[in-house]
Amino acid sequence: MRNGLHSWLYLSASNLNVSEEPLAIHQIVDTSRARNVDMDVTGALLFSGTRFVQFLEGPLESISSLQASIKRDARHRDIISLSVRVLRARQFGKWALAYNGESAFVEKVLDKAMAHHARGSRDGMDSLIKLLKQFSPTD
Ligand SMILES: Cc1cc2nc3c(=O)[nH]c(=O)nc-3n(C[C@H](O)[C@H](O)[C@H](O)COP(=O)(O)O)c2cc1C
Repeated sequence: MRNGLHSWLYLSASNLNVSEEPLAIHQIVDTSRARNVDMDVTGALLFSGTRFVQFLEGPLESISSLQASIKRDARHRDIISLSVRVLRARQFGKWALAYNGESAFVEKVLDKAMAHHARGSRDGMDSLIKLLKQFSPTD
C-alpha cells in the first residue's frame, strides 16, 4: 500500500542533560511543527525526562524520510521501533508535543510497554497511544 496512511511508533532514550533540555525540546518542537505540516504528518511526541515516545502518521514517503532523520539524531539513542503500520484513519488530528516532564505514572507506562515488547507482545502499544492522546492538547 504505497499511497496509504502509514504510522511509526517508537521509544528512545534521551541523550539530553538537564541544562540543555528546555532549549533542545524547544528546537525539536519548532522543527517538527513546520516540517510535519509540510509533509502532511500528524502525531505526538512525549518526553518523560529520560525517554521519548513518538507516534507519527502520514504518507509513506514522509514517514520514511522522518524515520531516517530521527534515527540519526544524536539527541537520543536506543530507538526501539514498536510498530510500523498501515492505518485506515488518522489517530491524531495534528502534531503535538504531548508531554514534557517527569512523572512516575508516565515512567510506569513506558516500563510496561518495554517489558511487553521484550516478550514479543504488542500489548503495550495501545497503552502508549492512549498515553499520547491523554497528554495531547485537543485545541
Ligand atoms: C525525539 C525526537 C523526535 C523528533 N521528531 C521530529 C518530528 O516529528 N518531525 C521532524 O521534522 N523532526 C523531528 N525531530 C528532529 C529530526 O531528528 C531532525 O533533526 C530534523 O527533522 C531535521 O532533519 P535532517 O537532520 O535530516 O535535516 C525529532 C528529533 C528527536 C530527537
